[in-house]
Amino acid sequence: MMSNQTTLKFPENFLWGTATSPTQIEGHIENEWTDFTAVDGSHCRIACDSYHLYPEDIACMTSLGVNAYRFGIEWSRLQSAPYAPLDQTELARYIDMLDRLRAEGITPMVVLHHFSNPPWINEAGAWTNPATIPAFVDYVRQLVAALKERVHLWNTFNEPDTYACVAYLLGGFPPQRKCQLGEFRKVIKNMAQAHVLASCVIFQESDTGRKPEVGISKNWTFFHAYKKYSPWDRITSFICHYTFNKFVLDAFLGGSRRRASTYIGLNYYGRMRFHHFHAMVPASGMPLKRLKDFGFVCDDMVERYPEGLEKILAYLNRKFHLPVYITEHGAASIDECFRERDLRDNLSALHRSIAAGANVRGFFYWSLLDNFEWQFGYTKKFGLFAVDDTDPSLPRSPKPLAAVYAQICRDSAL
Ligand code: FCB
Repeated sequence: MMSNQTTLKFPENFLWGTATSPTQIEGHIENEWTDFTAVDGSHCRIACDSYHLYPEDIACMTSLGVNAYRFGIEWSRLQSAPYAPLDQTELARYIDMLDRLRAEGITPMVVLHHFSNPPWINEAGAWTNPATIPAFVDYVRQLVAALKERVHLWNTFNEPDTYACVAYLLGGFPPQRKCQLGEFRKVIKNMAQAHVLASCVIFQESDTGRKPEVGISKNWTFFHAYKKYSPWDRITSFICHYTFNKFVLDAFLGGSRRRASTYIGLNYYGRMRFHHFHAMVPASGMPLKRLKDFGFVCDDMVERYPEGLEKILAYLNRKFHLPVYITEHGAASIDECFRERDLRDNLSALHRSIAAGANVRGFFYWSLLDNFEWQFGYTKKFGLFAVDDTDPSLPRSPKPLAAVYAQICRDSAL
């Protein structure tokens, strides 16, 4: 029987991957999250225990047939004091992981900062303190020297906008400060400076082997007014757009800084509409049922807006002419049919963007595992694999979306 569905083929050598971060999956970490209690009363001290179970995680990836993995290396594991040499035991564990990934044909993208710092950095004011910049660059220099034969895709900062906003404006991440706009700006400026210097170091150190690729991952949320003609809704959405999108992009990629990046990492989930100063999304506490009554389609976090992906890719292409990796996209829900629809809608939008000229080189599904979703704890189910925390061995099992994604990865088509 002839199928009337057209196959949407992705470009050759396209990277299909999944993404995670150390604090959310590894466990046994000492950073600012160790003593943090999430709203569901949980903590990340064991998380998915990927610290020990990473071979099983890689087996999950093999079963998916992905050819890439975006994951973080945890700074606090490797440097227990300022400018100290890297801890060789911890380094060996990451090297083992990289070698196992290579054996499975999985290209690593290494994230250098994903919402966490070593304790000695936090004690000195973390990224509000410019002294963090040279300390980070020293760490990066040592790490790149150790891993340059195994890693060529470097992702310096994951979502500096989210980190600075939730830690210093909303009070959701440690150090849980609120309304500190000055601190927010300092964090962004210091991280942007660190990105430029880290990028130089990556190029200097990677004198052998494959030419490195370097970029940040920018979270792009569309901020829109619920009522087009409400001045309040419009002002709120404009201020958010200006602060979290424009200011942050300019800080990292404006003017000559653009040269520090060979690509842009885009984390894209959807949009946030404002009504009477309230963000109309489940992540801000609005019940899903209420949002449904407004006609909104949301996962357990934000409103879905697949057509936005085309808009932001066209904008980034016009403005920066850099290749893009979709370093995160995913949906949190226990409704797997909803998640499948969301994935297909977003990948269709991505395919249209590529056909229209966007140079997108890969897509990383957030996330490989159900994990510790920061201040929300384990209540947000983003994983392709579930982790059974009633069993002390924390077994992983595929959810229905895993088979869907595996088929897409295998065919490199939708
Ligand atoms: C992104 C973060 C990632 C995870 C997903 C759901 O903002 O980078 O760690 O929390 O959202």
